[in-house]
Amino acid sequence: MVKRKIGLVGFGHVGQYLYEFITSRDNLEIAFVWNRTRSVLEDAAVPKHLILESLEDFESHTLNRKCDLIIEVAHPSITKTYGMRFLKHADYMIGSPTALADEDVETGLRELATEGAHGLYIPVGALWGAEDIRRLADAGTLHSLCITMTKHPAAFRLSGRLDELNQTAVESQTATVLYDGGIRALCGLAPNNVNTMAAAAVAAHNLGFDKVRGRLIADPAAEGWHIIRVEATGSKLTNGTQLSVVTERRNPAETGAVTGSATYASFASSVLSAHGKGPGFHIC
Ligand SMILES: NC(=O)c1ccc[n+]([C@@H]2O[C@H](COP(=O)([O-])OP(=O)(O)OC[C@H]3O[C@@H](n4cnc5c(N)ncnc54)[C@H](O)[C@@H]3O)[C@@H](O)[C@H]2O)c1
Repeated sequence: MVKRKIGLVGFGHVGQYLYEFITSRDNLEIAFVWNRTRSVLEDAAVPKHLILESLEDFESHTLNRKCDLIIEVAHPSITKTYGMRFLKHADYMIGSPTALADEDVETGLRELATEGAHGLYIPVGALWGAEDIRRLADAGTLHSLCITMTKHPAAFRLSGRLDELNQTAVESQTATVLYDGGIRALCGLAPNNVNTMAAAAVAAHNLGFDKVRGRLIADPAAEGWHIIRVEATGSKLTNGTQLSVVTERRNPAETGAVTGSATYASFASSVLSAHGKGPGFHIC
């Protein structure tokens, strides 16, 4: 069996989960693992020959050990610095798609993914119905999309004004709206919390990061859950009616966890789907 060789960038919660998943599969193999702190890789007994010392060297490291897919699960800044290089070299799965809220980053990657030899894959994460959203966007008939994410205040990693509002939710013990608006700005304010919204903006490509609406709610009553509500409407028909879809996904989550339990399995499934679609931007 030909094994797909995967380069893993980041070895935190998701990276370690994916490492275990990839090494447990007959059809997948690790090409390299990079982490900002090397000792974490050594502590986890990652074989020495798989450890990439410097991300700057990933091309030469994979010269004799072909790499089919590079997966980032570290930080959005990785895509900004290395996204284009990764995509020139292999298919690229971007685990922190909030990076695409930077217009220059998105435009550069879209052009390269369209004209080049490799595909850019965006995991759906906790987004339900991503393919359906994309189909409506392809047809140009997606009129609006709103993603509401409700979590316990301890599940957010925020700073500035949003963090202050989050503290208000804790003190008042009432559900508090932290943000309501276009998701481009929100991606910069809460990069670790709204990857699902960024995936939605990619799927809803006729609306994009400016027109997809994101709502972030801190709710002390949401302990144990990440709740994601998706509301989509289609274009108005000549008789004035329009398609309307509402879904609510309740994802069990440990108290204080940024990532819901089912999202890990969703990531593994995305790794299997991030394959063979050719050049372009693909939801997986
Ligand atoms: N798409 C999704 O639905 C989804 C779900 C969960 C996590 N994520 C994203 O995946 C990434 C990893 O998540 P995690 O839960 O494993 O996080 P984590 O904090 O457990 O691990 C992050 C890893 O990346 C490293 N890192 C952090 N900042 C870095 C930087 N600026 N440059 C290089 N390395 C850096 C850390 O040392 C750590 O090893 C995050 O960006 C997170 O937002 C996306």
